[in-house]
Amino acid sequence: MLSKKLQDALNRQINEEYYSSYLYTAMVAYMADLNLDGCAHWMKMQAEEEHQHALKIFDYMVERGARVELLEVKAPPKDWDSPLDAFKAALEHEKYMTKNINALADLAIEEKDHATNNLMQWYVTEQVEEEANVDDIVKKMEMIGGTGHGLFMIDRELKTRPAPAILTGGDGA
Ligand SMILES: [Fe+2]
Ligand SMILES: [Fe+2]
Repeated sequence: MLSKKLQDALNRQINEEYYSSYLYTAMVAYMADLNLDGCAHWMKMQAEEEHQHALKIFDYMVERGARVELLEVKAPPKDWDSPLDAFKAALEHEKYMTKNINALADLAIEEKDHATNNLMQWYVTEQVEEEANVDDIVKKMEMIGGTGHGLFMIDRELKTRPAPAILTGGDGA
């Protein structure tokens, strides 16, 4: 049985992952409005991945016989100052999500729940990748100034991002 504390924390993390998906979807709209098809595509794949992150915890809770409770998802911002500013906001958001995951892993250890800790370790590894991916785009955009020809080149590169794998169950598969 999941402890009540862990159950509540996992429900909140599902909500955070849905918010992440919502935030990146708002960025899809922003990029599409600027005719940055590649950036919009990248954000759409990111939004889909965050949805998968939510479902992975969802499936895990169901497997553990815990009741999932879906909470209200707050509205994301609509606009950013520039594409670079949006990617910087994405990086800040990923850092925030890493903190959430670390806190959940701490709680799982506190509660001596090894299975939940194991699930959280998957997210710990995933967050390293998430931060690195966004950081790479921010650095490239900063290098080229985030406008004109350079932005066009990055936009073309981001269009090649493949769709995320469908995650099932809570075992990291
Ligand atoms: Fe996530
Ligand atoms: Fe993420």
